[in-house]
Amino acid sequence: MFTEISQLRYQGTVGREYIWQSVEDSSCLLAGAILGSQVLRVRLVRSAKLDESRYQIPDGGTGTLPYHSWIVARGDEQWPTAGHLQEDAVHSILEPYLHGWSIAPDMLRLTRPLASEERIFGLGERTGSMNKRGQAFPIWNLDPPQGYGPQTVTMYTSIPFYLGLTQADGRAYGVLVDHTGRIDADMGQSNASAASMAVRGDSLVAYFFTGPSAAQVLSQYTELTGRMPLPPRWSIGHHQCRWSYLSEEQVRQVAAITRERNHPCDSIWLDIDYMDGYRNFTWNPTTFPDPERLINDLRAQGIQLVTIIDPGTKIDEHYTVYQQGLEHDYFCRYQDGKLFIGNVWPGACVFPDYSQSKVRAWWGNLYGSLLEQGVAGIWNDMNEPTLTNMMLKEKPVDATELNTMDDEVLHRAGGEQRTGIDGPPTLHKFFHNAYGMEMARSTYEGLLRLRPNSRPFVLTRSGTAGVQRYAGLWTGDNTSQWYDILMAMPMCLNLGMSGVAFVGVDIGGFWGTSNGELLLRFAQLAALMPFCRNHNAANNPFQEPWAFGEPFESAYRKAIEARYRLMPYLYTLFHEAASNGTPIMRPLYYHYPQDEQAGDIEDAFLVGESLLSAPIYEQGATSRPVYLPAGTWIDYWTGDEYPGDGWSEIPAPLDRWPLLIRGDSILPTGPLMQYTGQYPTDPLTLTCYMTSDGLATYTLYQDDGNSQAYQKGTFAHTDISCRVFQDFVTVEIEEHFDKYRPPRKEYEIILHVGGKTLRQKEPTGQGKIVIRL
Ligand code: GLC
Repeated sequence: MFTEISQLRYQGTVGREYIWQSVEDSSCLLAGAILGSQVLRVRLVRSAKLDESRYQIPDGGTGTLPYHSWIVARGDEQWPTAGHLQEDAVHSILEPYLHGWSIAPDMLRLTRPLASEERIFGLGERTGSMNKRGQAFPIWNLDPPQGYGPQTVTMYTSIPFYLGLTQADGRAYGVLVDHTGRIDADMGQSNASAASMAVRGDSLVAYFFTGPSAAQVLSQYTELTGRMPLPPRWSIGHHQCRWSYLSEEQVRQVAAITRERNHPCDSIWLDIDYMDGYRNFTWNPTTFPDPERLINDLRAQGIQLVTIIDPGTKIDEHYTVYQQGLEHDYFCRYQDGKLFIGNVWPGACVFPDYSQSKVRAWWGNLYGSLLEQGVAGIWNDMNEPTLTNMMLKEKPVDATELNTMDDEVLHRAGGEQRTGIDGPPTLHKFFHNAYGMEMARSTYEGLLRLRPNSRPFVLTRSGTAGVQRYAGLWTGDNTSQWYDILMAMPMCLNLGMSGVAFVGVDIGGFWGTSNGELLLRFAQLAALMPFCRNHNAANNPFQEPWAFGEPFESAYRKAIEARYRLMPYLYTLFHEAASNGTPIMRPLYYHYPQDEQAGDIEDAFLVGESLLSAPIYEQGATSRPVYLPAGTWIDYWTGDEYPGDGWSEIPAPLDRWPLLIRGDSILPTGPLMQYTGQYPTDPLTLTCYMTSDGLATYTLYQDDGNSQAYQKGTFAHTDISCRVFQDFVTVEIEEHFDKYRPPRKEYEIILHVGGKTLRQKEPTGQGKIVIRL
């Protein structure tokens, strides 16, 4: 039974926090803080007096918090102070957030009002409808039972952040509950006019983001939880994976076919079978006798190699990783010192305690040998963590309840050093949702330490709020069925609206048997998703791009070729995500918040502001209705124009899908490449899709694609604008190349206006080009 805290007695300040005591229960305090002008924090603490310790934030910077967090990456000191505010002013700013807090003997709950027409988005990786209003679910990372679908309660990554949007005025706000234990979220199910989040324990911390636009909410949220660093450009290409390519010969064969048949591709991935008995950081000496030679040969063809690493460490006295971990006491134990043991691929395993800096550093350094051999990126899987069975537990096997670490395992974190970056020791039940993220962090930081001038590429399956700082994410084990194409969209859109921009799904479907048409439509879906990888479960028929012959193979190639041509556009969006937390794949409401219809669309998405992709998810379909927001929209493939603010039936024969460009947009494209770094982007094609009297502007971002130099300003911006007059059009180009000069000699300008298409080539350089109509 929860008791609401309804009467408060103001007590004064401690540091940046304003403290109120509950009149109902004097052992409960509310502490509010104003961070910058748009972020507020209120925490409910079950304690009669505030502990005045300051805790370092996870990134080890100079910032601190009054409590320990795995999620927050910006300390209180790093926010601008709101100037000197009178106490009255502070109280009235915080006042709206001091309501809706309640306590029960072992739980704390925050309840926020929901306006009648408000929609709820975000909340990480979840199946079901995009708008989470009316749903209740646990926030608790789990490997769901095989074949997840709309009824699945929880997935590999959950994020306790939501964004509320009111269509009438287009206003948005955000709420984050900073907690990595289980949260019971109720987004208006038990009470239609309230959203609540309840946690166990003695502290409930919430951050409030005032927006007022969805873009501002995400910018504020990612200012707090961190942003995705730019990944290496090759990781934005097409990836080819399978559980598993079983030998060096098989990998070489896949690479050879990929190149022979001109399927653009940047990497091949090795799933668990490359290892020696599923021991992390080893190679099977028979099937992969000379990884270095293999990797060099692949790289000569423009193909990078990515390897999987899971947390489960095989119990084997002759295995050095196990020996080292045991010797230094790096594995998770119960409070009484007993090792936690669970079954994964190698059989009985122990699990690194990633809550400890020294364990993360050790694990991160283990990647050294893979990197020396030339491995380009790392895939972290099974890091919820997932156990393949519960042989070591007496309790009955219940796939969703018991396939993870025991609640009572103790993560030792900072040990005695409780105010340091790892914080105080914590039971697994309070650390659980951070386990996967801290593994990804250990990988990311390891790669960065080992190769300081390269951008790490890490893909993770599990994470929580803040995981974008370390890794991209895919939605795990989907199924080869039509519904999974549809389901992928709201799931990835909500991940983007939870700060995780680099997301994608297994092309072709993981479980089950794919077919030519399904695989192709999956490829068309993923062609414009941030992460683009073909992957398939063990023992399933092959589903590489060529697997089902024509006409599917050519159509698959064509979809991925479009991605590669659009690389300058996509890469610029990655940069935008890295700078502002902006999603790459955006729900329609993101740019059209007041468009009622746009708020409901979850079977199409925007890629940046200018492209709208509406994949086909029905067998045999050769067209589909697409809702186009206000404006004019142009078919990418045919140049046909469609009016906005309504529905249009758009043709989608097998070799294309509805892909529309918003009128008055400039789309940058490059020459077709078989891998992202094959040639310089020269000529840079600027296609201006114009309406009469239209004006379009665009800023292209470019850098070397792989190093950290961009962090120090080594990048180029090209500003382009296009304006349509009565009988001529001007295209103006401004080059900002002081620190980085993109290797190009030529611009190709293509102008679509009034049913005409005009082309013109110009040498690089700034200036105004006048095109007569
Ligand atoms: C998990 C992953 C999947 C991988 C498999 C074997 O099911 O989600 O992608 O192929 O494990 O490693």
